[in-house]
Amino acid sequence: MKFGYFDDPSREYVITQPDTPLPWINYLGSEAYFGLISNTAGGYSFYKDARLRRLTRYRYNNSPLDMGGRYLYLRDNNTGKYWSPTWMPTCVKLDEYECRHGQGYTVITSKLNGIKSSARYFVPLGESLEIWQMTLTNESASESDLSLFSAIEFCLWDANDDATNFQRNYSIGQVEVADDVIYHKTEYRERRDHFAYFACSEKLAGFDTMRETFQGAYHGWNEPCVVDSGKSGNSIANGWQPIGSHHVKVHLKAGEQKQVIFILGYQENPKEDKFDPPGSQIINKKRAKQALEKYLLPVNADKAFADLREYWTTLLGKMQVTTPDEHTNRMVNIWNAYQCMVTFNMSRSASYFESGIGRGMGFRDSNQDLLGFVHMIPGRARERILDIAATQLKDGGAFHQYQPLTKRGNNDVGSGFNDDPLWLVLGVAAYIKESGDWSILEEPVQYENEPGTESPLYEHLQRSIQYTLDRLGPNNLPLIGRADWNDCLNLNCFSDTPGQSFQTTTNKDGKVAESVFIAGLFVLACSEMKGLAEHYVERQKSNVGHLTFDVRPSTFYTNAAAGMEKTAWAAGWDGDWFRRAYDDFGHVLGSKENTEGRIFIEPQGICVMAGLGVENGNAVKALNSVAEHLATPHGIVLQQPAFSQYYLHLGEISSYPPGYKENAGIFCHTNPWIMIAEAVVGRGDKAFDYYKRINPSAREEISELHKCEPYVYAQMIAGRDAATHGEAKNSWLTGTAAWNYVAITQYILGICPSLDGLEINPVIPEKWDGFKATRKYRGVTYHITVTNPKHVCKGVEKVMVNGRQVEGSLICAEKGAGEVNVEVVMG
Ligand code: BGC
Ligand code: NOJ
Repeated sequence: MKFGYFDDPSREYVITQPDTPLPWINYLGSEAYFGLISNTAGGYSFYKDARLRRLTRYRYNNSPLDMGGRYLYLRDNNTGKYWSPTWMPTCVKLDEYECRHGQGYTVITSKLNGIKSSARYFVPLGESLEIWQMTLTNESASESDLSLFSAIEFCLWDANDDATNFQRNYSIGQVEVADDVIYHKTEYRERRDHFAYFACSEKLAGFDTMRETFQGAYHGWNEPCVVDSGKSGNSIANGWQPIGSHHVKVHLKAGEQKQVIFILGYQENPKEDKFDPPGSQIINKKRAKQALEKYLLPVNADKAFADLREYWTTLLGKMQVTTPDEHTNRMVNIWNAYQCMVTFNMSRSASYFESGIGRGMGFRDSNQDLLGFVHMIPGRARERILDIAATQLKDGGAFHQYQPLTKRGNNDVGSGFNDDPLWLVLGVAAYIKESGDWSILEEPVQYENEPGTESPLYEHLQRSIQYTLDRLGPNNLPLIGRADWNDCLNLNCFSDTPGQSFQTTTNKDGKVAESVFIAGLFVLACSEMKGLAEHYVERQKSNVGHLTFDVRPSTFYTNAAAGMEKTAWAAGWDGDWFRRAYDDFGHVLGSKENTEGRIFIEPQGICVMAGLGVENGNAVKALNSVAEHLATPHGIVLQQPAFSQYYLHLGEISSYPPGYKENAGIFCHTNPWIMIAEAVVGRGDKAFDYYKRINPSAREEISELHKCEPYVYAQMIAGRDAATHGEAKNSWLTGTAAWNYVAITQYILGICPSLDGLEINPVIPEKWDGFKATRKYRGVTYHITVTNPKHVCKGVEKVMVNGRQVEGSLICAEKGAGEVNVEVVMG
């Protein structure tokens, strides 16, 4: 069953009934000011950091789930009846309803009693504010006398404190109302130099800033007293719960239309210019007023919206494909790329499943997120890399997370996730492959954000590699530390205290538990380092004549990788698949010797991606084992058999009921690793089959089961051991976005940036006749046509560039070449 449809020409998903199985959300904002918005206008906004600068309040796990947001109410003043044009919170049945989620904006249109309303929500590029553009049309035959109310609830900035410290918070709320604009200024009088403002384009009939006055102490957002009576209280909040609500009277003749604009914004003032007049306690509103003057005018709001659309046309234009499969086309061309931007911006901080107070930016997560984002805005990926690298520890280790506002490592979570540092190598390599910007390697970057510790970024990468080499276990495999990619495989944790965090509790300084996954990742990282080292040494010789810092020769990485491979075969190969790990007692995990957790997906993906077993046939064996033991119609599960009980020595993985999350759920992040591995061994049919199983658009028809949005990937789909096999959870913020983008574009369609240019090496379904793609790369636009006359999965017979045949499949046009036509004939 579907709850909407894709409108591909408009690049929108159109939701046609408001009661979707879960709130289906979207994101507003692209750089500093962000919002989450559901299909019924639920959600909240924040500036840069969802925890520390929360503008509006949102109660997670509420009942109903999605209550609180950017609410509007319409009241027919003749009958006293009122409704929500976005359906929530009143849930009054609408005659028409439609929600269009696009890139960075959402439009919710509805109709009741002949009154059509359309609310467009977006954040203009480069601004710290959001616009709600409400267009009302009287489609009835008679004149209407309406009241329009807005309502938001302010958060007292620190979302964690806001939700817990009530003995203080009930006393600190402060607002100002001036010239019909509502200002939220809690803590502005002391250490905050920022405030929020909420304004409306129309003359107000009234306003409210006290929730109790607006709602009534025993009412909810669904039946606010003020809306019910049609009269605002003009309340001024002193403590308790400050809100913002405007009341506008709208008279519409039959057929008449009117636009009302609301703006919610965030403003910082210089310390010395905080108050107006100076010495008073009154907010200096000068800067906010400038923004309001501009955007409260429909013509400027329209222009800002057009600019936002144009921005996304350009970004998505970096890669567009036409394949025989519509689900592939719309995910690659629109939604997957868009989700990559969102994961790049948010990491795992704020979604409807991530509360914005739990996690900052992840070291490993952010490095992976940029794999799917870097082609869109390489400059931002560069900045991100430098921020992440500056949190690295001197011994090459990494803070597991950092806060985006402070950009400092997060001490509460600490370090010791032994895979973390290696992802930095993959992130940097991807950036250089895309941009050709070698200068990033020479950027001076601090360790632990400590001034004076700067070393070239390249040295950070060398230390990442060394970090693994310094931490090998009894089998010479890398020690796992707190955990590797699988945060829940906690082999040194031994937690028997309820509620203790598996992630942060003090672990044994284990010198036994080892990870085959990290071994595979290490080999992959070494092959990237080898490429960087070769090029870098060459470049340094020809450009500068000497090396400005110690660069290990590329042979160092070839040897290190070869050594690790040898170890992997000796201790990490189980006969039909790669093993997963060794526990603190030295017992193997992910082996035929185990009764539960006999085979895991992660090492099969990463080891084959790193090239292990491609030549000796073991890669195919491992992938056949995946197909046999782990694949389901809804995707590939993480391991089998699921853990049936809690195992102290395995940690969080066995804390989940079988079939959920890391305990044998379909943890979607890992599925593209298998797609890539299948592409590496040349099996295009299998690679694409796996791609389709978790492609959200391809699952749209089963939305009542899948439950999450059909336009973005979810972190998890319940595995076959679960009662709800096929049900997705944790949509939006997942490494699944970047990796699927990489799998389909770089490995299946095979358009893959390399250090030397664009490699074109498709591994596609046999039955495809070919496909077309446009890829902007290093300033050149490549129009690529792939034909598959012999119906093979893999193999390039001929490549023509602007009509001339070239050797091999590496394309590297001169800068400034403009448009280049590439024809690839498979065979
Ligand atoms: C989840 C993991 C996640 C970790 C992060 C765990 O509860 O299952 O997927 O990586 O928390 O802290
Ligand atoms: C989600 C986390 O964000 C990611 O870092 C981790 O790799 C996976 N869960 C697997 O545990």
